[in-house]
Amino acid sequence: MGSKLPIFPEQASTIAPDVDHLALFLLIVAAFFTVLIFGSIFYFAIRYRRRSERELPHVPHGGMALEVLWSVIPFGLTMVMFSWGAKLYYEESRPPDNAMPIYVVGKQWMWKIEHLEGQREINELHVPMGRSVKLTMTSEDVIHSFFVPAFRTKEDVVPGRYSTTWFTPTKPGKYHLFCAEYCGTNHSRMTGWIYVMEPRDYENWLSGGTAGGSLAENGQKLFQDLACANCHKADGSGRCPSLVGVFGSTVRLAGGGTVKADEGYIRESILQPQAKIVSGYGPIMPTFQGLVTEEGILQLIEYVKSLSPKPALNAPVLTNTPPGLPGQR
Ligand code: CUA
Repeated sequence: MGSKLPIFPEQASTIAPDVDHLALFLLIVAAFFTVLIFGSIFYFAIRYRRRSERELPHVPHGGMALEVLWSVIPFGLTMVMFSWGAKLYYEESRPPDNAMPIYVVGKQWMWKIEHLEGQREINELHVPMGRSVKLTMTSEDVIHSFFVPAFRTKEDVVPGRYSTTWFTPTKPGKYHLFCAEYCGTNHSRMTGWIYVMEPRDYENWLSGGTAGGSLAENGQKLFQDLACANCHKADGSGRCPSLVGVFGSTVRLAGGGTVKADEGYIRESILQPQAKIVSGYGPIMPTFQGLVTEEGILQLIEYVKSLSPKPALNAPVLTNTPPGLPGQR
């Protein structure tokens, strides 16, 4: 940065050039019509100016062709903008299956980041170059927004639910992270840095100082400490469903209906256990609202994930506990 004041931020992710092409297209269309309209105003004002006091204006009728033309052309142009934007939006909202998961918790006024391996960072995020990274994000207080201009990624971080975004960095370096949603006094200072590292440097960084164990290990510990294990027994003999193989499965609910067991569902089940009762079980679980932090919930989620076979797709059917019906015996 320094003395340079860039008009456009650097392009440092796979999607950045696509976003810039669309932005450039919008800019060109807007500039073209601005010039055309203002040019026409000045030209017509001079060409058709009133030349004498008694001159009556000539009012033209008809001109159907012109009417159709200036309806169809803008319609076509806006449809191009819409479909192009929708395509990009669709790409940006669907992380690839092999993306590396990282968790983000926003709070007034900092970004807390947790890697699966257990590394924690504040206002910094280290990622390897060329690897797709999926962020699962939530907030402890108000709405924040995770904005990395160089990646052309911006996603709201909302209390009470998970939002996701993803990117594939293409260039090693240090990039700005901003909060892009006004969140109180120090909103403007809720900034940080993304460090994109060569894969080998990233491995070195990862191996340095994992004091507290992986996210899943911490989750397992929390699972014991909160006495979850007393009811959620792995072999399904407890009073609550076994959590083995639950993540990614379709859970059948009491009173009909099903739910996909994703991060949001597990979070809800911890904080509002009565919201969705698994078929075959009673509403006996107490809420853990206030007993477990957002980071603790993320650790629990990673623990529950670790109880499922790794490839979530084409997972083998568990013979002892049919998905969604763990209670039937
Ligand atoms: Cu957080 Cu603005």
